[in-house]
Amino acid sequence: MLTYIVLLGPPGAGKGTQSKVLETKLELPHISTGDIFRENIKNGTPLGTLANAYISKGNLVPDDVTLAMLRERFLLPDCKNGAVLDGFPRTPTQADELEVLLHSFGGQVNLVLFITAPVETLIERLAGRWTCKAQGHIFHEDFNQPRLKGVCDIDGSELYQRDDDKAETVLNRIEIYQNQTAPLIQYYQERGLLIEINGIASIEDVSTQVMSVLHMASSSSHG
Ligand code: AP5
Repeated sequence: MLTYIVLLGPPGAGKGTQSKVLETKLELPHISTGDIFRENIKNGTPLGTLANAYISKGNLVPDDVTLAMLRERFLLPDCKNGAVLDGFPRTPTQADELEVLLHSFGGQVNLVLFITAPVETLIERLAGRWTCKAQGHIFHEDFNQPRLKGVCDIDGSELYQRDDDKAETVLNRIEIYQNQTAPLIQYYQERGLLIEINGIASIEDVSTQVMSVLHMASSSSHG
């Protein structure tokens, strides 16, 4: 069976952190549109140059560009059983298009995990975030420290701070989230797919909530 899980929530809520946990537990690929854009920026591709003009200001990359990139990503063989979608969809247009695209594969969004946290927490988390250069593993200088400062515990690569985590860019990202992405809360509530996760608990406690929601969802789908 194809399984598609969407992680929804404001910047810094913990979508990437929990997606990495789900990727391992469910053996599904973690697809982060933000990570794909950053990889393109790092490699200097035309898509990266275009995306960077939006990302550096904290604005969304246009829907048509994001959708074309995602369609290509879904064609890779690791998506054969589904995916954990982090940071996508981000607008009602993207959500509509995702529905059409998944339908064409015989799939659908099965569950939307909406991770919540207040603005002060988001700012604190993004200001202290360190990300690994090789595979995007996520750390925090206070809440999830690497064993060795500046080095990823998992693959040994260098950790860096994202350019769009600068204070003024973060405030714009939060505003953009509220204006353009928050309408998806109602969108998925109306479809009976949205489950709220309290994101202000510790990383481990949030993972426990996520796993228990998945457990309940899979028990109810098996009758
Ligand atoms: P993207 O990379 O998707 O960023 P985002 O959605 O703003 O989310 P973040 O990655 O900042 O936060 P997160 O919720 O994943 O938190 P994390 O787990 O890292 O997008 C970047 C940009 O790309 C966008 O602004 C846009 O321009 C563009 N883009 C991407 N997708 C797009 C799309 N679909 N359409 C158009 N444009 C798009 O955690 C944050 C920190 O907190 C970490 O340090 C972590 O260790 C820590 N932490 C996590 N959980 C906890 C916890 N429970 N307790 C304590 N600390 C915690």
